[in-house]
Amino acid sequence: MAQEHVESMLKVEEIFEPSKDVIERAWVKDYEKVYKHAKENPETFWGEIAKELEWFEPWKKVLKWEHPWASWFVGARCNITYNCLDRHVKSWRRNKAAVIWVGENGAERIITYDELLRNVNRCANMLFDIGVRKGDRVTIYLPRIPEQIVAMLACARLGAVHSLVYSGFSAAALQSRIHDAEAKVVITADCGYQRAKCIPLKHIVDEAVKYCPSVEKVVVVRRQEPKIKLEPKDIDWHEGMAKASQKFEAVEMDAEDPLFTLYTSGTTGKPKGVMHVHGGYMVGTYITTKWVFDLKDEDIMFCTADPGWVTGHSYIVYGPLLNGATILFAEGAPDYPDPGRWWGLIEKYGVNILYTTPTAIRLLMKYGDDWPQKYDLSSLKILGSVGEPINPEAWLWYRKVTGNKLPIMDTWWQTETGMILVTPLPCMKLKPGSAARPFPGIEPAIVDREGKPLPANEGGFMTIKKPWPAMMKTIYKDPERYSQYWKTIGNVYLAGDMARQDKDGYFFFMGRADDVIKVSGYRLGTAEIESAIVSHYAVAESACIGKPDALKGEIIKAFVILKQGYKPSDFLLDEIKKQVRKELGPIAIPSEVEFTEWLPKTRSGKIMRRVLKAKELGVEPGDVSTLEE
Ligand code: WT7
Repeated sequence: MAQEHVESMLKVEEIFEPSKDVIERAWVKDYEKVYKHAKENPETFWGEIAKELEWFEPWKKVLKWEHPWASWFVGARCNITYNCLDRHVKSWRRNKAAVIWVGENGAERIITYDELLRNVNRCANMLFDIGVRKGDRVTIYLPRIPEQIVAMLACARLGAVHSLVYSGFSAAALQSRIHDAEAKVVITADCGYQRAKCIPLKHIVDEAVKYCPSVEKVVVVRRQEPKIKLEPKDIDWHEGMAKASQKFEAVEMDAEDPLFTLYTSGTTGKPKGVMHVHGGYMVGTYITTKWVFDLKDEDIMFCTADPGWVTGHSYIVYGPLLNGATILFAEGAPDYPDPGRWWGLIEKYGVNILYTTPTAIRLLMKYGDDWPQKYDLSSLKILGSVGEPINPEAWLWYRKVTGNKLPIMDTWWQTETGMILVTPLPCMKLKPGSAARPFPGIEPAIVDREGKPLPANEGGFMTIKKPWPAMMKTIYKDPERYSQYWKTIGNVYLAGDMARQDKDGYFFFMGRADDVIKVSGYRLGTAEIESAIVSHYAVAESACIGKPDALKGEIIKAFVILKQGYKPSDFLLDEIKKQVRKELGPIAIPSEVEFTEWLPKTRSGKIMRRVLKAKELGVEPGDVSTLEE
């Protein structure tokens, strides 16, 4: 189904061998050897890695696997923030920069590990004072400011479960996520800045919490002057922090205690609360950050994601901090005030690792080579890509403008996997458009619908045969939905992606196999968008598909049947887009809306989006035997 996408990609046969100095510097110099060791002794392998971190109590067993339920580091006691903060503050890293934050207008804040720990402690005390206890859920709806990181770590430190909601989501989307999590506290800000515009957030929270009785308090980071008015439920972040003590011992957690839930789109209208725990997630994000990006103490890592998505959780916050690295954290857009923004930050701060999305690379590519050429990018050592397949053109451009020698880590993973699962390591040869090989300890297989492994170069379903440490623990309040991942095809984890493996075992991802679409790397469910559309008074039915797009990877195209008495018009088209913005947020607005009188359905009434997509792309629809007359 996603084949067309791949066919449209330029084929590049060229293979890029790693240079000698890259191998010399790399943590892993011999991939095959490490992979073999991990495959033969998975528990020893993960156990050895876990020993690089500090635990309050050691584990009795590395893995207890009762399909589909995994427990990692059974019986161990830990707290991920102890390893992100205290472990470094005890060492020479105490006064090392943990976070370099830059605002759009050039504002800069540099926070050392020691200062970050004190802020996190203050925030934990503030949350404790308003009644947050171990196991309680806290929703975080913040823009990309240091408080976002502080709030996450503070929750984790006191044993509360954070649930970040991307600040581009609408009040309705935020409300459903707060509601499902039954959050006790919401942490937000008055606004975020993007393209010199102040985007107000607080009124969205006010609207969302109106219908969320679980919410007792709202903590507000007030950035603007004059300060916005607070409601009776509200607490001012800065006042709360100033009053709070800077001492707070990390709460001892079981390795299997929840750390966070993060809502992500699936094939039904209801987003799923993917849950991760302290122990396994810590080990998985720690080692993948270290090995994939060859992270060293002197490095500055710039991951351009938003912590509202899993990439930000794992590779802005937890992974780099577990490694004691320095994070560059930037608010704003990649091309504002000009398309040299990111290149300028790389030059100014001497960034060593850049981790971004194919959509961002294609956007910068559109602005031309002059922008990166204006800057000294010689500090860069490793590049990364994530979120959607990267087309070889973008891959080659990314490499060219950064000096034509840097390794590009095309990392494949998901909210559910918690950590990178398929990726090159710097010591490996690279093929543009390929995410290379499984990370050591990961055993994938590409299979057909019956679970039969497919030969080289044949596209099929991406599956993982064995559990891994950072895998989700469950879907919050929906264990059945969790089980489905391990029960739909054979007894393996079904990722939802199509992929093929070439004769060298290199993976090429071909897009989603299900009704999930990736728009600019953002994950959206067609069912969610459809349900937003049909909530419009004039709409009877709707079906959405992802349509390949040269810039965004995919765009949303919506087919809409109007209720009797309504006629297609530009007015309704605009209204429908507004409705989606209101229900979900700007990222889910369909780029194309087509009014129609018919939708292809199975005899049992299910919409066949596959048929719509084939028609749209002018290709054969495949098996249509279930299509109604
Ligand atoms: C889906 C997961 C991974 C963190 C950010 C997105 C797609 C992700 C790649 C890649 C091809 C990729 C897959 C996957 N995807 N990385 N390197 N090549 N596709 O996490 O929002 O949970 O989305 O993103 O389709 O299933 P997510």
